Amino acid sequence: MSFENLLVNYKDKIAVLTVNRPENLNALNKQTIAELRACFLDLEANKNVRCIVIIGAGEKAFIAGADIKEFVTFSEEEGKTLAREGQEQLFNTIENLSTPVIAAINGYALGGGLELAMACHIRMVSDRSQLGLPEVTLGLIPGYGGTQRLAQLVGKGRAMEMITSANFIDGKQAYVYGLANSVVSASTLLMESLKLAIKIAGNSPLAVTAAIKAVNAGYKEGENGYEVEVDEFGKCFGTEDFKEGTDAFLTKRKPSFN
Ligand code: CAA
Repeated sequence: MSFENLLVNYKDKIAVLTVNRPENLNALNKQTIAELRACFLDLEANKNVRCIVIIGAGEKAFIAGADIKEFVTFSEEEGKTLAREGQEQLFNTIENLSTPVIAAINGYALGGGLELAMACHIRMVSDRSQLGLPEVTLGLIPGYGGTQRLAQLVGKGRAMEMITSANFIDGKQAYVYGLANSVVSASTLLMESLKLAIKIAGNSPLAVTAAIKAVNAGYKEGENGYEVEVDEFGKCFGTEDFKEGTDAFLTKRKPSFN
């Protein structure tokens, strides 16, 4: 598959997906959203890919938000469609992807860019990152799930402050808030993200997928996370990965999952 605004590189069992519109600080226009959806689904279907790392092209930004130039003339109805389709087609897809996704955030992750990072399973930031939801400065609110996911990650009070003030926080603050899993230097961000990806990729892919499903279930209305956990736990016992993992433990060797 080839894309106009994305690059995909493979290393061992890791796919590095680059949003490649540096002249617009990797802003998410309609085409990039559609390409990202297609790319994530394609990578999910590829059983050789055990973890995805998403980055932004250039040194300045991960993603500076939805493409303001594209929606500037939109009506109320078009605005609603933009948010709904974006959430359904891309942001929820990433969150529910069975392959784990790490956002490696160097530079700006703003608006839809931070919302995309928050839909990922794990976020790594650098000491040069700036994260924020500046939509209220445009007369908007976050539309790609930001009001919900930010509150889930940092708590309601901090989310309210970040969204209503439009203040940016740096990488260290994001780590303190629990918005970022780790903060590292900009020069080591990709390497550290790949190290984590390699660690994840060496584990049972079926168990990793089951874990994502169970954790996500706790945040979904109408689902009981504990019940989903019981179900997924039970299903693990019927897998080749379980046989391999337990056999490796008992015979004192490293497991190798297909
Ligand atoms: N959409 C479209 N273009 C963007 C963009 C965006 N979100 N962010 C940056 N760009 C473009 C700029 O317009 C500029 O293009 P031109 O050279 O053609 O003018 C180019 O990228 C470089 O940007 P700047 O010259 O502005 O760079 P800077 O270093 O002076 O500032 C910045 C960097 C602080 C990130 C600034 O670009 C900025 O504030 N960007 C917008 C951030 C924002 O408001 N994001 C939220 C978007 S709305 C949203 O995401 C809604 C939603 O939830 C669904």
